[in-house]
Amino acid sequence: MSTGREPAGADRPPRRASRGEPALEVRDVVAGYVPEADILRGVSLRVREREIVTVLGPNGAGKSTLIKAIAGLVPVRSGSIRLFGESLLAVPAHRMVSHGLAYVPQTGNVFARLSVRENLEIGAGAHRASGGFRDDLDRVYELFPRLAERRRQAAGTLSGGERQMVAVARALMSRPRVLMLDEPSAGLSPLLVAILFAKVREVRELGLTILVVEQNARAALAVSDRGYVLAEGREQIEGGAGDLLADPEVGALYLGARRALA
Ligand SMILES: Nc1ncnc2c1ncn2[C@@H]1O[C@H](COP(=O)(O)OP(=O)(O)OP(=O)(O)O)[C@@H](O)[C@H]1O
Ligand SMILES: [Mg+2]
Repeated sequence: MSTGREPAGADRPPRRASRGEPALEVRDVVAGYVPEADILRGVSLRVREREIVTVLGPNGAGKSTLIKAIAGLVPVRSGSIRLFGESLLAVPAHRMVSHGLAYVPQTGNVFARLSVRENLEIGAGAHRASGGFRDDLDRVYELFPRLAERRRQAAGTLSGGERQMVAVARALMSRPRVLMLDEPSAGLSPLLVAILFAKVREVRELGLTILVVEQNARAALAVSDRGYVLAEGREQIEGGAGDLLADPEVGALYLGARRALA
């Protein structure tokens, strides 16, 4: 499925980074909410173009903080964050979408009182007035037919899985090149988790690069290319998704132990 627009299309001009080049690069990032309380204590990771990368880690490891630091919501004290080679450190959070970065927060990611369609309109932001909004809407509804059926319904009245799909769809409406998802499967049944991650794969097929933070390690790694384990504010393990799934240490900590951690 083509989105018919440059950032997500398969027919990107050759001048742009080709598949496999770094889309998002985080280097030695030290960050925290308040001065002198570092939550991230030197995190490095890289997501190549069109990769799906998962960050795993126990509660409080700093996974959400990492995503928020990339999104410009947590002060970065040192290190670098680059999107397609361009530093994001001076970019305010509300300008991230115009740089091609979209972020679906762990909680509070839909406007409950607004309809599905209104949520998607807000996601489109400035693109709403420009040409292509209708096409974007059609493509998002094609990806999530359930949302097309429910487009007039208030988002707050949807099921948890449907709401999560609104959140992802809303982020897609901003025409991102890189999408970050914080615990997209939280609170969903195993069947819905499987459906949601299948959608994440479909989103990648649109040409996007995806960074996922998840406690549901098995489901996330199953659709990912690579993963990192974050603990105590540092990335501790990096590997191919298959290798991480087979790693006894990762297995003991994150696979099949979800309830204990949750
Ligand atoms: N707004 C905030 N202000 C101050 N400290 C915070 C804030 N949000 C999180 N923290 C602290 O940052 C640390 C990391 O939290 P973070 O939410 O990044 O963890 P996480 O890995 O996402 O955990 P979870 O799996 O529970 O979502 C925790 O010690 C937490 O208390
Ligand atoms: Mg979190």
